[in-house]
Amino acid sequence: MRFRLKLIVFFLILVSGCFADIIPTSLKCEYRENPVGIDEPKPRFSWVLESNQRNQGQTAFQIICAGKKELLQDKVGDLWDSGKVNSDQTVHVVYNGKPFQSNKTYYWKVKVWDSQNRASEWSEPESFTMGLLNSSDWQAKWIQYDTNPLNENTELHLPPCPYLRKDFTVQKKVQRAFLYVSALGLVEMSLNGQKVGNDFFTPGWTDYNKRVYYFSYDVTPLINSGENVIGAILAEGWFADYIGYSILVNWPQKKNFYGKVPALLAQLVVEYADGSQTIIKTDDTWKAATGPIKEASILMGETFDARLKMDGWNTPGFNDKEWTPVQPGPVYYGKLQAFPGVPVRETQEIKPTEITEPRSGVYIFNMGQNFAGRVRLNIKGEVGTKVTLRFGEMLHQDGTLMTENLRKARATDTYILRGDAEGEVWEPQFTYHGFQYVELTGLPNSPDLETLTGIVLNSNTPRTGFFECSNDTVNKLYSNIVWTQRANYFDVPTDCPQRDERLGWTGDAQIYTRSASYNMDIDAFFTKWLRDLNDAQDPKGYYPNFAPVAFHRTSGQHYFFSPGWMDAGIICPYTIYQVYQDKRVLEHYYDNMKKQIEFYGTVSENYTCKQDIEAWGDWLSFGSKTSNHYIATAYYAYDTLLMSEVAAILGKDDDSRYFKNLFTKIQNAFLEKYWKSEGIFVDDSQTTCAMAIYMKLLPEDIEKRAAVRLAELIRQNGNRLSTGFIGCKHLLPALSEHGYDDLAYTLLTSTEFPSWGYEVVNNATTIWERWDSYTIKDGFKKGMNSFSHYAFGAVCEWMFRYMAGIDMEGYGFKNIIIRPRISRDKISYVNADYNSIHGKISSHWQREGNNVKLDVTIPANTTALVYVPSPNKKEIFENGTVIGKHKDIKSISSDDGCTVVQIGSGPYKFSFNLTD
Ligand code: BGC
Repeated sequence: MRFRLKLIVFFLILVSGCFADIIPTSLKCEYRENPVGIDEPKPRFSWVLESNQRNQGQTAFQIICAGKKELLQDKVGDLWDSGKVNSDQTVHVVYNGKPFQSNKTYYWKVKVWDSQNRASEWSEPESFTMGLLNSSDWQAKWIQYDTNPLNENTELHLPPCPYLRKDFTVQKKVQRAFLYVSALGLVEMSLNGQKVGNDFFTPGWTDYNKRVYYFSYDVTPLINSGENVIGAILAEGWFADYIGYSILVNWPQKKNFYGKVPALLAQLVVEYADGSQTIIKTDDTWKAATGPIKEASILMGETFDARLKMDGWNTPGFNDKEWTPVQPGPVYYGKLQAFPGVPVRETQEIKPTEITEPRSGVYIFNMGQNFAGRVRLNIKGEVGTKVTLRFGEMLHQDGTLMTENLRKARATDTYILRGDAEGEVWEPQFTYHGFQYVELTGLPNSPDLETLTGIVLNSNTPRTGFFECSNDTVNKLYSNIVWTQRANYFDVPTDCPQRDERLGWTGDAQIYTRSASYNMDIDAFFTKWLRDLNDAQDPKGYYPNFAPVAFHRTSGQHYFFSPGWMDAGIICPYTIYQVYQDKRVLEHYYDNMKKQIEFYGTVSENYTCKQDIEAWGDWLSFGSKTSNHYIATAYYAYDTLLMSEVAAILGKDDDSRYFKNLFTKIQNAFLEKYWKSEGIFVDDSQTTCAMAIYMKLLPEDIEKRAAVRLAELIRQNGNRLSTGFIGCKHLLPALSEHGYDDLAYTLLTSTEFPSWGYEVVNNATTIWERWDSYTIKDGFKKGMNSFSHYAFGAVCEWMFRYMAGIDMEGYGFKNIIIRPRISRDKISYVNADYNSIHGKISSHWQREGNNVKLDVTIPANTTALVYVPSPNKKEIFENGTVIGKHKDIKSISSDDGCTVVQIGSGPYKFSFNLTD
């Protein structure tokens, strides 16, 4: 009866047309869809609006949040009912209801009112689950099993993995079961033989002295009635394993930077239908043993002796008499928090494209793509056969694997067969490699393409950007950028995935953050890493070269800061705010960010940085140099300028004025010291000009002259770039800001050495660390040389912001700017889409001769200024109607040779002619 009534009401509303033409979709809580295990007492809610009408927006919203899904169906928010809030806000609406309880799932939904004040339907309900919010919720104790004495390797210290298990019985009907698990090291949990969750490398890398994360899983379907077994395999991971280049540089300590023995903390809360509950927790009743994983190291690889497999070890009925009781783990003093980031997952499988045999019995599999991950082995053979897999990014001329550039990363997996008649399948658990080629030895018979499958691993950040244009080299470059980002967004933003480094280098991160944000939703990923970065801030105020910092802590040795790197502490949170309007990030780190500015003061004299300031400089620039103190002073000024903006965003007006003032002082000193009246900088390089322009350090007239000089320098260099990590990001935007789009396109599409295109035509499938990582003339560069380093991929920012022209005024893509730079000769079309926090923005342009079509899509609840690159507004049309007569064009003005039209949401099709 009730249902029939609802149907009638719905029908009546529909025919009367009073439902809003707008629906809330893509609901997120703390950036994630239905997150399981959060510990934010006041989580934030976001949604995206969809409408098939132009000029639609939100005038009000209502959120309800309930402890039971059924309540939401009846539109009851027993925890929070925001009521109708007159606001166009759709991102980060802060929860303001009753307090949440640990280990409970909550439900929420939202409805909105459109521009005509018509209410939408309620969204689909979404959920979020609270983790263990109070330390007293944890009944589990840390446990461990020290396998260090069992190390068999004489060169490296790689102890076998501890296996831990616990039997338990469930006698009542289970309603809900959640597992909370943390580890010092890495852990893989199983329940009744099944892996819990799809995550790998949990609980991630942190400064374990300060904090460690726990992961939360809904394991209700995995619980048996009757006998159950919970199992865990631990590995050293970043906690105790070799890290970075500690062996290479002969660091006094090579491993065990945070501790020596991995430990486990797990708590399984089983709730029964009768309202009672049991907690299975790590304690001294657990038992431990070693098993087939003889070695497990992120850098060195994994060794698995299948003869030692303990079938059924994590299922009921297994006899664990021979297993030993576990040892108590350490008393942990750091914070135990819910993982706020994006877990590492297996995101793709790749089949090899060919197999070669450069030497007898040595098989090389070409995976066709350089990526981070590992391989699954599918083989048959005699018991005791030892198969060895080595990984490399390139091949030597004779077709053998190149491993020299891995330096001290052994990157070798070994599998010893147990001789199963039906064959054996194996995939390592606690290691990953950066590679395109796999060398397989030890198989008595020839392998085939089914022998190996590539498994791509990365922090599974959702894809947000898509880019395609008429130039295949540029398209391949874009693919290479995305693959390199995937390979290096691996729990932390690493420099490279293959050699003995894989550190969260801060310079690389800050240079690339804005580019990364176009390709993927990196908000939660950075929520996690910004904690790492701030945990690693030096007491003197500077942010370190990489975060987390492992070496520094126990070596007692000085490690240094660097301009361009330490600035990540300001530039990254600023960018996250800029793109996602995440104010909390700024609030959390504001005081720390200030300390970075103060630190700059201590390495400066009269507002410019000291001549001998230590720095990496314009790292790996090619053919030109920029002084360290110039780069340092420019960043000092830029950070200060950003801080004046950050302070204003946070409503700290005095601070904002202070920073603005300081900026003016640094700017004056900077101009005085570096700008010569002849119209060039003292450091006369592409990087010098590009940085100053991009960072807005120059008064207008000087900026123009600097741009002229930048263009001259490029032309004098044979239309080639000479920038390193630092200058590369700023180069093309600086050109486009001053009308040198053609030159920017020349650089982007060039295939001459050095260029992005040179890598592509020389078979790159990822972005190389150096412009000369490989040259036809000199072959592979010896020494430090990675083929998967995203820093030079920072050109991606220009591709979206200028080539496609998707940008914003202010923050969060609420006021969008579409300003494509139409190439007259090099590119005939560009299609770019970007899923912003406010929804999908598209800019597709196509040029035939001088005739241009520009299709633009603007999400509901946003507005856009479209810069049509033609001054003649009488000859600009939208869908066949001249824009002056168009009812949906809100205003028309002109700016710098463009006609600027203001539009609301919806799809638009412009056409116009380019003038000469
Ligand atoms: C890393 C970089 C890093 C640099 C510092 C290298 O070893 O791979 O990407 O930024 O050192 O200059």
